[in-house]
Amino acid sequence: METPIPTGLITALRTARHVTILTGAGVSAESGIPTFRDALQGLWAHFSPEELATPEAFQRHPRLIWEWYAARRNDVQAALPNPGHLALVALARYVPRLSLITQNVDGLHTRAGSSDVIELHGTIMRVRCSADGTTYTQWDEQAGLPPPCPDCGAPLRPDVVWFGELLPEGALIRAREAAMQCDLFLSIGTSGQVEPAASLPRLAYNRGAVLAVINLDVDDRVQGHYYAIHARSGEFLPRLLAATWPEAA
Ligand code: APR
Repeated sequence: METPIPTGLITALRTARHVTILTGAGVSAESGIPTFRDALQGLWAHFSPEELATPEAFQRHPRLIWEWYAARRNDVQAALPNPGHLALVALARYVPRLSLITQNVDGLHTRAGSSDVIELHGTIMRVRCSADGTTYTQWDEQAGLPPPCPDCGAPLRPDVVWFGELLPEGALIRAREAAMQCDLFLSIGTSGQVEPAASLPRLAYNRGAVLAVINLDVDDRVQGHYYAIHARSGEFLPRLLAATWPEAA
């Protein structure tokens, strides 16, 4: 059965001046992108995330880590944005100001058409020099695995945040500002277990914003200006958009 849409949430969305959205792996689930742990199958089944996604692992086994990310990049390139991603693109046309923050590294929000996405954990569609951090969107795998930086020869690495690494400072500052300034915060498809992203919804809520949490972990609940909605984003977000602006359907 379809999750009913609380009327208070429709009103909050229709009247919001600034909507901030935080997304996680659940938003890409309906595009068939395996979450980090689900991706550890087949050839990769005997590894743990901590063995593959750390700077130490890259130092010890650069080729293995490069190949692991190349495999994930292939999965992502074969996938398409789903109706949840597309509803967020459309939403930006209706609300006066929209900030989109993601923990996903798959680049699907941008491919769907969202602009200016705040990528808290980086993106696998870009690499960077492991020595000085210069980023590149194209590289030559014929030159070696991992390929050397065209400038200084140091190995290139995926431009993602690994365990034990700090988040990109500029992205984190923008995300916190967006959480503090919005009047509606939507947390979609994230379990909210990984800091500092996990504290963003609370930051918004504590400053008076309406907070809606949409994922498959919560039960439906409305309490004051907090809404918990058990739903798939690819199913729920297009309905929320159409219920708020019927002409968007
Ligand atoms: N629609 C909405 N939510 C969904 C869907 C769906 N179709 N499918 C799953 N979910 C929800 C789950 O109920 C869960 O709440 O998505 C969430 C996924 O949680 P996690 O796997 O913990 O993903 P995320 O919150 O993005 O993880 C944060 O942890 O593994 C690290 O760095 C990685 O960026 C990642 C971070």
